[in-house]
Amino acid sequence: MQALKIEGIRKTFHQTEILKGIDIAIEPGEFLILVGPSGCGKSTLLSMIAGLEQPSSGRILLGERDITALPSKDRDIAMVFQSYALYPNMNVAQNIAFGLEMRKVPKPERAATVARVAAMLQIEHLLERRPAQLSGGQRQRVAMGRALARAPQLFLFDEPLSNLDAKLRVEMRAEIKLLHQRTRTTTVYVTHDQVEAMTLGDRIAVMKDGQVQQFGTPHEIYTRPATVFVAEFIGSPQINWIAAQRQGAGLAAHGLELGLNGEQAAALSAVGGECLYGLRPEALQLAGEGLPGRVHMIEPTGPETYLCADTPVGRLTARVPGEVRERVGDAVHLRWVPEAVHLFDAGTQRRVA
Ligand SMILES: Nc1ncnc2c1ncn2[C@@H]1O[C@H](COP(=O)(O)OP(=O)(O)O)[C@@H](O)[C@H]1O
Ligand SMILES: [Mg+2]
Repeated sequence: MQALKIEGIRKTFHQTEILKGIDIAIEPGEFLILVGPSGCGKSTLLSMIAGLEQPSSGRILLGERDITALPSKDRDIAMVFQSYALYPNMNVAQNIAFGLEMRKVPKPERAATVARVAAMLQIEHLLERRPAQLSGGQRQRVAMGRALARAPQLFLFDEPLSNLDAKLRVEMRAEIKLLHQRTRTTTVYVTHDQVEAMTLGDRIAVMKDGQVQQFGTPHEIYTRPATVFVAEFIGSPQINWIAAQRQGAGLAAHGLELGLNGEQAAALSAVGGECLYGLRPEALQLAGEGLPGRVHMIEPTGPETYLCADTPVGRLTARVPGEVRERVGDAVHLRWVPEAVHLFDAGTQRRVA
């Protein structure tokens, strides 16, 4: 049985269709990521799972229950928002216990839960403080503590880390991962950050304009992106594109023949004409021969260097280990293996093979 099933969900606000038919199903204990650019409908979808919005059509099943029309409070769901929305007049312990109190959980049990959650999040020393006396990261922990106190059937997170500074974001990301490993509560997590998506998700739904472009594991999404959009959205530095045309049985750009793997070569006959030939930066190697280019920019990051070169087929970025000897203006050659090529039909924007 699936833990959560989203079936044909559509949502229209003021004659504008915001969600255009979403279908996603996840297994018990899974960590689902909804990722996509701002405005693509992630929060709207999450609000419908939470019961804060009603879909225009479609169904949502939590386990075997159809919860589409169920009031939010009866759904057995806990949610952590981007804005922590703590009660300012209550201390941390009261904030964590609030939901339990509403459910008339006896006091000794409430105290035990607060102690357990506080220990898990390492906020035991903050229990007496008010939200105003906490840092952003501490407030975020309390908001998570409030959700964790419930042991719900489903956790929902809406960009919970986006108000934190970069270092804290990385720390909290690891904590959310550890918490999930420990509790195994089925989770839906919204983010626009591709690194959060890749590092946290068991599976990822990449959304654009109210539709799911691809639903798969982080590995599938990265190694076999289904569309041009997905290939561009996930991966940093961004995938390189070479605009290419069919030439005989193969593919060429600016008169240069481009290598294809067997599967792509076989599928090429079904493509209209124009193709996008995609190379991830790590697929490009500096070599003694290959595609000639001239170094445009060098960005060292420490463990690796991004080397950007102008070539006859356009500007390409290579991601190479360690430091490079090359300098801006130097002549270089770039090489790659056909197995590393991502090929897309420029017309349909979909993957070829
Ligand atoms: N209550 C609402 N009324 C009208 N439009 C809305 C409402 N909620 C969201 N929208 C619109 O729906 C689109 C998707 O919003 P949202 O789900 O918040 O996107 P995301 O979370 O992916 O950034 C946006 O264009 C937004 O303006
Ligand atoms: Mg949002």
